Order: sequence, then structure tokens, then C-alpha cells
Amino acid sequence: MLLIRLPVATIPARMPDRRFAASEWRGSMWTRHDGGVSYARGWPATITEPSLLSWPVTLRPLAARDAKPWREARVRNAEWLRPWEPTNPETPLYQTSLGPYIAMVRTMRREARHGVTMPWVVLVDGRFAGQVTVGNIVWGSARTASVGYWIDELYAGREVIPTVLAMAMDHCFMVVGLHRIEATIRPENRASRRVVEKLGFHEEGIRRRSLHVDGAWRDHVCYAITAEDAASGLLPRWRSTVRAARSRIG
Ligand SMILES: CC(C)(COP(=O)(O)OP(=O)(O)OC[C@H]1O[C@@H](n2cnc3c(N)ncnc32)[C@H](O)[C@@H]1OP(=O)(O)O)[C@@H](O)C(=O)NCCC(=O)NCCS
Repeated sequence: MLLIRLPVATIPARMPDRRFAASEWRGSMWTRHDGGVSYARGWPATITEPSLLSWPVTLRPLAARDAKPWREARVRNAEWLRPWEPTNPETPLYQTSLGPYIAMVRTMRREARHGVTMPWVVLVDGRFAGQVTVGNIVWGSARTASVGYWIDELYAGREVIPTVLAMAMDHCFMVVGLHRIEATIRPENRASRRVVEKLGFHEEGIRRRSLHVDGAWRDHVCYAITAEDAASGLLPRWRSTVRAARSRIG
């Protein structure tokens, strides 16, 4: 029997011994057929790292029930998020109301069923703290995607996003079967550039006026990581980095 061993600390509760048996996964994984090739996508997936940071951090699929904490966080973090938020050129306002949230959840969940998006919420010690979304998934001979993320300012600077991003990338490469994932970041967003640099994404250059952000078309620096770059797992590598830094501090 084919067993896929995941590098993360905890996987969905019903999996007995931190391993997925491909046969057990069929209830929750799609098998997609494309020109005779089939591949399973690893969705939905809930992934937890219980002990690396001061609190357990979890990625779990975005749900309608996140509406209230999502809205509360978006209102409180408006100034923090606005400069970096993708906007719609036709309705270029920062969104906090529930109507667009429900529409976003519906769209993302539909896209997740079709294998083109993986929308996660970030939980810190069980509380809603942000989002990580792997989107724009292209199958065929590309197997590429792009990733976006944000964290509530309350938790900023505590390495929550690098940790959950490492979990998400390992899942995408080792379970879903993607090959390359991009993060495009405004050049002036130093905090976000540090996140991907810490995990070993490669800087590939500027994409001119590539995304509508904060009400205008903005240049972005493209960073990317491939399955080969992450062959032994990003999370194990990131754990070693964090632990080495702690032991240097004492
Ligand atoms: C970018 C972002 C996701 C980083 O998440 P995080 O969990 O704070 O990541 P880290 O803890 O690794 O911190 C990354 C950098 O943020 C900066 N930082 C540290 N503490 C900070 C704080 N309290 N407030 C703001 N920035 C801080 C530091 O430059 C840090 O890099 P360093 O570790 O080399 O010092 C977060 O700042 C955020 O959500 N920003 C607003 C939305 C956004 O920019 N999203 C990404 C769009 S591409």
C-alpha cells in the first residue's frame, strides 16, 4: 500500500499514526483525471505544529463560521493590511463587510473543490489569526501556484507566518503534488520579503504593475520555491533554524 509520510507534526485527527494511506484518503481527496494522468490534491487538510512557537499554530480550511472573527480582525487591522491588500480595480476599497466575506468563502470553497485554490485560516492557540491562501493552481505540465498570507498585527513578529507557510508548502509539494509556488510581494513590503527569504524562496525579479493593490496597479518582486528546493521538507529546516537561533540567544 502506498503511504505518504507527511513532515508536519500533526495531520487531520482521524489519521491514526501521522501517515496517510492513499486508500484512506479517498473520502476527503479528489482524484483528478487529466489526459489519463490522475493526481490527488490533498484537500481539505488541517495541519498543526504544536510546539515550535509559544502557542500551537494550525492551518484549517476557511469556513463560513469564520465570518465574525474575520470581520473583527479586518476592522481592527485595517491600517496594517490596507497597503498590501489586493483590490478589485472596479471596487477598489478595503473590504470588511460580511457580504463580500460570504462571497469570498463561497468562491474559494468552490475553487477548492475544483482543485485550483487551497484557502486556509491561521489559528494561533485555537484563535483566528490570519489567512494563507494557495491559489491560481495550474495543473498539466505546470503544477504551479501562488501563495498569499496575512497575520493579525497582534501576532506579528513571532514567526507565525513562516511556520504556517512552511507547513503549507510541504503539504503542497509532498501531498498535493505541486512543483513550483510563487509569492509576489511589493518591493517596499520588507516584512513579507523577510518571510519568504527566511524559508529559502528565490528572488526572480520585478513584475511591472502586476497586481492591483491598495487601489492601484503595483510592481511586485517575484519569489519562487520548487519541490526540489524543498526536497527534505521546509518545516524540518525551519524548525532547525528557529531552534538554532534560540540556542544562540541562550
Ligand atoms: C508580512 C507578514 C505576513 C509577516 O508575518 P509574521 O508572522 O510577522 O512574520 P515574522 O515573524 O517572520 O516577521 C517578519 C518580519 O516582520 C518584521 N517584524 C517583526 N516584528 C514586527 C512587528 N511587531 N510589527 C511589524 N513587523 C514586524 C521584521 O522585519 C521581521 O523580519 P525578521 O524576523 O528578519 O526581523 C505580516 O507582517 C503581515 O501580515 N503584514 C501585513 C499583510 C502583508 O503584508 N501580507 C503579505 C502581502 S505579500
